[in-house]
Amino acid sequence: MSDAVTQRTEREDFQATRDPAVMESADTGQVNLLTYAELYRLWERQHWATQDIDFTQDRIDWHERIDPDERFQRMYGLSSFFIGEQKVTDELGPMMRAMPQEDMRIFLSTQIADEARHVAFFNRFYEEVGVLESDTLAGRLEETSEHLNPNFHTLFDEMLHSRVDRLAREPEDLETLVETITLYHMVIEGMLALTGQHFIITYNEDQGTLPGFVEGFNKIARDEHRHVAFGARFLREMAQHDSRYADAIQRTIVECGPAADGVLAPPWYEEGMEVFGVSLEETREFAMKALERRLKVIGLAPVA
Ligand SMILES: [Fe+2]
Ligand SMILES: [Fe+2]
Repeated sequence: MSDAVTQRTEREDFQATRDPAVMESADTGQVNLLTYAELYRLWERQHWATQDIDFTQDRIDWHERIDPDERFQRMYGLSSFFIGEQKVTDELGPMMRAMPQEDMRIFLSTQIADEARHVAFFNRFYEEVGVLESDTLAGRLEETSEHLNPNFHTLFDEMLHSRVDRLAREPEDLETLVETITLYHMVIEGMLALTGQHFIITYNEDQGTLPGFVEGFNKIARDEHRHVAFGARFLREMAQHDSRYADAIQRTIVECGPAADGVLAPPWYEEGMEVFGVSLEETREFAMKALERRLKVIGLAPVA
């Protein structure tokens, strides 16, 4: 991990989530994952409000300090997150209902609120900073969708959506639930969202741009680490319970790998380009390291 990212993830509030990716001990498979009840209590302690964030300087930076080419490039990251947060908010209901235990359902209910807050954060950023022409949530989502790449749709609208539809029809189908949590918590949140978040935060810190955005995005990243910690605990329990579920986790990661990897590169990407100050190889390496640590803790990867 880059030094700036390591410094951030070593912060007490990030460490408090015990997401294996922020714990060095995960390299040997040793992390005391929080219980579902402890994760719930951490959620209560880690609340924040999008309306407390001041975007005054962000508005100046966006219009006066960031040139049009860079604004266009930044739209890929912003759009993927804004629409990604909206899609995961909308998909969580059936996953929550399909969870086999009450404390799991309670935690996933908190996550629905978090994902809604993440949508509200982006909506407010777009509004206060004046990023788009549209002046409604639906209009902004529509307008910003032109920046996405086709892999994004494969991952969210096909792979995730079809599994959630199956869960909505058959909430007792635990194998589909394991596949869905693998795709949502390990791949989308764990590999993609957190990788993008850490590099985008570091890039803005280095450039001295968008301080309000950085403040909120740090809080979103902390929420995501808490969500992934829930996913790691759930998948570890399921994999220990039955090897059929361990197979389902591995199968899903292999199946979603190419689309997930495709999301890391913007549509305008050309070989050798840097995106948010890092190469695509460095981005991939970071995402894979985080996945490896989590799989070790779940019990599915050889430990160092
Ligand atoms: Fe989120
Ligand atoms: Fe999340």
